[in-house]
Amino acid sequence: LKTRHLPTPDCQQQWWQRVDAVLDGQVVEWRRALHRRPEVAFHEFETTELLLAALGTLGVAVERPLETGAVVRLRGAGPGPVIAVRADIDGLPVEEETGLPFASVHAGRMHACGHDGHMAIGLGLTAVLAAVAAELPGEVRVIFQPAEEILNGGAQALLAAGVLDDVDMVVGLHLWSLLPAGGVAARVGPVMAATDEFRIEVRGRGGHGAIPHQAVDPIVTAAAIIGDLQTVVSRRLDPALPGVVTVGTIHAGSAFNVIPDTALMTGTTRAHSATVRELLHREIGRVAENVARAHGAEATCVIVPGVPVTMNDPAMAAVMTGAIREALGPDAILDAPAQMAGDDFGFLAERVPGCYLLVGAGGEEAGATFSHHHPRLTIDERSLGIGLRVLLAGLQRLMDEPVTTRP
Ligand code: NI
Repeated sequence: LKTRHLPTPDCQQQWWQRVDAVLDGQVVEWRRALHRRPEVAFHEFETTELLLAALGTLGVAVERPLETGAVVRLRGAGPGPVIAVRADIDGLPVEEETGLPFASVHAGRMHACGHDGHMAIGLGLTAVLAAVAAELPGEVRVIFQPAEEILNGGAQALLAAGVLDDVDMVVGLHLWSLLPAGGVAARVGPVMAATDEFRIEVRGRGGHGAIPHQAVDPIVTAAAIIGDLQTVVSRRLDPALPGVVTVGTIHAGSAFNVIPDTALMTGTTRAHSATVRELLHREIGRVAENVARAHGAEATCVIVPGVPVTMNDPAMAAVMTGAIREALGPDAILDAPAQMAGDDFGFLAERVPGCYLLVGAGGEEAGATFSHHHPRLTIDERSLGIGLRVLLAGLQRLMDEPVTTRP
């Protein structure tokens, strides 16, 4: 990745004001170069090479706590808070269908979630802060995190490697095609959902398809379980609280005229609190086991823990909302609902106070009308400079007047 431009130190300027049209263009170039070479979770080797090349031209020291990804510490001489900024770097096993000139050159791999943009913003942030590193009151730690898209992924690996041990606050963002480009949301409270997997195994007794009364049909039982699982949200959950139960796979049988022994289902739950998360898991197990029993079958339900809810610290969210107003004006403050998607940023924000921004990246004009993970996802690239400016404005505020420090 080539770098054409480095911001020059100018103590009079706010950090976000150091982002000019040239750096905006550079960030777009970085994003497109990274977009061309997507790799999946924990296999981001080429991506890491591209990042290291770009960071090399910025003249910063790079640490490699994990096999892929990178960490940059921008530290001033004076004391102050340590604020981590997380940019995730992995793509998805999706075949790109955007037809863009910088579309993926890796078959079956695509930056279909926008993490290419997160990396480009992280590089832009590093470029600006490297120019003012000496005057930083504290440290900004830019973390290029691998493997956000899988369970037991990069965030947990970073925590295990101690990357957040001395951190006071953590900031993250997601470009969001469902919100209009030009605005940013810094919600108070939940932003992304606790996300878990459940696996239900139904055990019946197989037999001839023409002699059902001598068998216990696990397919009919599974169908009844799926139907009754719909009542977990509609009848067991407080209607004022959000929750999702989705059955995503069902596998059973091998021939049209044979009743199989077993049926297997997997699905996902989403919740915005630990209480709802536990309720969904408990009720799914109860429905599965008891409906199966009513059919003379047996069912077991296993929960595979995913990620906790991403919860924004109220004081940090207030500072970030002020930063949006400062950098973009009051109209840019978006009131976005909490999402039911998950992000392993939740693990980081569970460890230290955190704030996760949703940066509007959608719109008809830019053709950015598809949801994340879609093979035609694209973003309005103006969102890159917008996200960068808000991050810088927010970081400067958080460093000047830390709202929270580790005990
Ligand atoms: Ni994502």
